[in-house]
Amino acid sequence: MSDPLLTVRGLRVAHGPVEVVHGIDLDVRAGAVTALLGANGAGKTTTLRALLGHLRPSGGSIRFGTRELAGRRAHRIARDGVALVPEGRRVFASLTVADNLRMGGYGRTSARSWRDPASLAQPLALFPELEPLLERPAGLLSGGEQQMLAMGRALMRRPQLLVLDEPSMGLAPKVVQRIYAALAELRGGGTTILLAEQNARVALALADDAVLLRTGTVAAAGSAAELRDGPLIQEVYLGRG
Ligand SMILES: Nc1ncnc2c1ncn2[C@@H]1O[C@H](COP(=O)(O)OP(=O)(O)O)[C@@H](O)[C@H]1O
Ligand SMILES: [Mg+2]
Repeated sequence: MSDPLLTVRGLRVAHGPVEVVHGIDLDVRAGAVTALLGANGAGKTTTLRALLGHLRPSGGSIRFGTRELAGRRAHRIARDGVALVPEGRRVFASLTVADNLRMGGYGRTSARSWRDPASLAQPLALFPELEPLLERPAGLLSGGEQQMLAMGRALMRRPQLLVLDEPSMGLAPKVVQRIYAALAELRGGGTTILLAEQNARVALALADDAVLLRTGTVAAAGSAAELRDGPLIQEVYLGRG
């Protein structure tokens, strides 16, 4: 459980001329859950989008296994085995739940077309709640159901690294518990998880390791237990990180 799967060093990311991630380091151990914490605007989404190749880093390295991801195109990174569950879920509202899941599997080397029925089995085993909703347009689902769908869609690719951006956002506490129980189950099955959250309390309850971002720099990093008991995390709880 201790080999690093992802090693980020000195990562810099800008939006246009404005640098918002100022040379951060981040390690994600294989089989572990790593939480990327920080208040709104700290740079969590920007960091994740750079890891996924949606934004081109202006500096630093992103080592994933034996590959360098910095400068690599997004579709290649997806094929390398990194999947993102984006902030705000981003499901295809007019497509059915089943077709949303199938879209997730499209591009897998073993899938012949996006209608390849290969396997809705894994996401449905994790989220049996989706089974009776398979033919429903995704736009009609509740926020929690859409979060399950977005996670199921990402899992269709059987990623080596599952990256989630604010999976708890906007959800009722009971639903957040359900989503986090599923994340714990995935970790139990060996999936490596990187999770960005403003909700430090819920993320630290699950995470093995954590990194706290403050305005695009690392304010603290260590085991989740160390951060939970440290003074800096209070800033995030209070929304001032
Ligand atoms: N598309 C964008 N264009 C310009 N600035 C952006 C864009 N997206 C985010 N930012 C800015 O980058 C900083 C970090 O934002 P973000 O990565 O979304 O933080 P977080 O996900 O931690 O809330 C913020 O100051 C935000 O205003
Ligand atoms: Mg964000």
